[in-house]
Amino acid sequence: MSENSPDPVEYESSVNIQTFLTFFVAMTVGLLVAVLILPSWLPNMSFSLGGDAPKAFWYLSRATAFVSLSLLWLSMALGLGITNKMARLWPGAPAAFALHEYVSLLGLAFAVFHAIVILGDHYINFTLLQLFIPFSTVDYRPFWVGIGQLAFYTWAILALTFYIRPVIGQKSWRLLHYGSFAMYLMGIFHGLFSGTDTSAGWGQNYYWISAGSLLFLLTYRILASVIDGLSPQNKQQTQVSAPRPTQG
Ligand code: HEM
Repeated sequence: MSENSPDPVEYESSVNIQTFLTFFVAMTVGLLVAVLILPSWLPNMSFSLGGDAPKAFWYLSRATAFVSLSLLWLSMALGLGITNKMARLWPGAPAAFALHEYVSLLGLAFAVFHAIVILGDHYINFTLLQLFIPFSTVDYRPFWVGIGQLAFYTWAILALTFYIRPVIGQKSWRLLHYGSFAMYLMGIFHGLFSGTDTSAGWGQNYYWISAGSLLFLLTYRILASVIDGLSPQNKQQTQVSAPRPTQG
């Protein structure tokens, strides 16, 4: 990486571990409490949440699934914007880094809600244990739901690495951070092959636009670093800092 490249190490994590955990728990509990309290205010919702075939949990899970995937997209786009320097134009690299982290945590909280709320759906009928153990949802697309579960665990680990960066070192942190590409792909394939909305036209457009735009930003990032490496100024800097060959 050249001297001019924005390096995330320049920016300190803006969310400390206590804030992260408080935010995470508050967000999940808040959403679950809302599901319990709202029916008494909105009678039609009670109908949707109760009875033999409650539909609301399924709708809530599907809606929050797309919120979570969209926040993951935004976080990835901001991350790529930092490394391909687009973020310097707007909103600025430090702001992009802070947003990158916040948005990822928010997306993770929505993923928790997406998974937990499906417990209320009588058609899918998962147990709490099945929710935690990848590939164990025998009655409903275990492989693709398992891929979603792996995406979730990868996401949780990557979020935590922000806080153990001084312990594991910058190099390992960066290496682990590349796992976010695998995580995003797992999220996309999980949605595509276990979701109800894949058959809808808007659903397919959503997946194409989400993956296509990130591929564009990734290509731009690779080209930017190749061009950066070839620029005469950077070549000169490399020569100056390279060790002098020994004579004789
Ligand atoms: C413990 C982890 C997870 C479990 C148990 C889980 C479970 C499920 C299930 C059962 C469905 C099918 C719902 C339906 O349409 O009938 C689904 C769909 C989906 N999930 Fe997950 N998921 C998990 C993690 C994730 C993560 C981390 C993301 C985002 C990155 C995600 C995004 C989606 C999307 C976009 C859909 C498609 C929704 C639709 O088509 O309506 N899921 N998930």
